Amino acid sequence: MRRNAKSRGAVEAAVRSAAVLGIMAALAVSAAPAQAPGGPGAATPGVENPRRAWQDWTLNCQGCHRPDGHGSAGAAPDIAGSVARFLRVDGGRDYLGRVPGVATSPLSSRDLAEVLNWMLWRFDPADIPANFQPFTAEEIDRLRTRPLRNEASQVRRELLKKIDRTPIR
Ligand code: HEC
Repeated sequence: MRRNAKSRGAVEAAVRSAAVLGIMAALAVSAAPAQAPGGPGAATPGVENPRRAWQDWTLNCQGCHRPDGHGSAGAAPDIAGSVARFLRVDGGRDYLGRVPGVATSPLSSRDLAEVLNWMLWRFDPADIPANFQPFTAEEIDRLRTRPLRNEASQVRRELLKKIDRTPIR
């Protein structure tokens, strides 16, 4: 009996936190960002539909990365103002497509390519290299067949060291 009461408590707590997340998602909806580089109406390279990209982020990524990309302790790193720096170093671009949260996402490769391109422009436009070519569905298809697993954080650490040693182009 006691055990049942305890697990019911746990379920209720889970339902309550799911409800809170739902409210947060609804709040985020009313503050839809999706500002294209170059101002409203300008096209974002590799983002066919900014609204869809933003919704995909809201439903599939922001639970860990938060609406503003600042991450959450223990769940996901802060990517705001830094994520595009991975594009500067060898292996960094592949890492963005192979990191578990991306590679194992239920999103299609087309939608993932779009949300990655959107994310780069949304959270770190200043670090996008001038010669950046947007991710494509084909590239994501290829990268996600080799998802990173437990080694992801090690790969991340090594890339960050490389980034620190690489002068800004
Ligand atoms: C369950 C939590 C979680 C979800 C959901 C998630 N991520 Fe992540 N993400 C992480 C963690 C943790 C890392 C750090 C690498 C690692 O250890 O996996 C990371 C790393 C990243 C990185 C590399 C940036 C860096 O600083 O390492 C990108 C880009 C990224 N995630 C994008 C996404 C996108 C896009 C989605 C949605 C399709 C997503 N993530 C969903 C937890 C998550």
